[in-house]
Amino acid sequence: MLLLSGLLAALRDDWQASALLRARASLAQLAGQRPTSRRLRGLDFLKGMTVKQHIKHSGTTVCVLLLLLIIGGSSFVYSGVYNIGADDPHTKPVHTLLETLRNRSISVRAESLSAPNLEDPQLISKGAGQYAAMCTGCHLAPGNEDSEIRPGLYPQPPDLTKARVEPKAAFWVIKHGIKMSAMPAWGGSHDDETIWGMVAFLQKLPDMTPSQYKEIVDKAPPDEDMAPPADLGHSHGHYGHSHSEPTSHTDQHNDGAL
Ligand code: HEC
Repeated sequence: MLLLSGLLAALRDDWQASALLRARASLAQLAGQRPTSRRLRGLDFLKGMTVKQHIKHSGTTVCVLLLLLIIGGSSFVYSGVYNIGADDPHTKPVHTLLETLRNRSISVRAESLSAPNLEDPQLISKGAGQYAAMCTGCHLAPGNEDSEIRPGLYPQPPDLTKARVEPKAAFWVIKHGIKMSAMPAWGGSHDDETIWGMVAFLQKLPDMTPSQYKEIVDKAPPDEDMAPPADLGHSHGHYGHSHSEPTSHTDQHNDGAL
């Protein structure tokens, strides 16, 4: 408390000093005199304060303000006053700030990528199988109006059967995910080619009817890109693996260089 009142006193003194200086400068201007630095220095001298001292004083003000900001920020964070619940939407300014941060972060990073031929039918077909296996719960499939998980997600995953995403940005988001949202980074378990496959498929998805979607997913090639550790705990058995040891239920011991 003592520290705070000391800081406030310092702030008040400094504010008064600079207000006095400003008032004098505008008075001089009113009288038709240019507020040259020489004149200012002269006026300050009358008050016993040089321009150099004034700059030093302003530096103190900035430091004090920063300190107050840090103390205020830490108290806010530590108090627990902020509601982190996914069912409590951001205020408009916070939402705008986060959205700008997200969009700039993605576009700056996606800029330097170069996309393969996204019209390649094999690539599209590969992406269809991946999408059906991993993404529909959050991003839907043609004919699905909603899923059990979607209403509770914040931010809401876009309905990718309706929105067409920019390819390079989509690749970056699929590979790296988005912090503090439900969007995972699939790059940990999928190579770039597989991810471009999903991007290629996403370009076609908004034009697909439910039956076209079903057809392309049924014809999709087997998924061979899952890294062994990601196979733990859930089955990709219907896609098959390149080996067939009798103990294949312990895939992770047979795959890779273990
Ligand atoms: C558990 C839910 C969840 C799963 C599963 C999921 N996503 Fe997402 N995805 C999200 C959320 C939430 C966002 C929005 C994040 C944001 O806007 O900050 C998102 C955003 C995206 C975006 C960016 C869209 C845009 O308009 O910029 C793409 C592309 C995307 N996901 C593709 C995929 C693909 C492909 C898969 C499957 C491999 C997938 N997602 C799986 C939740 C999910």
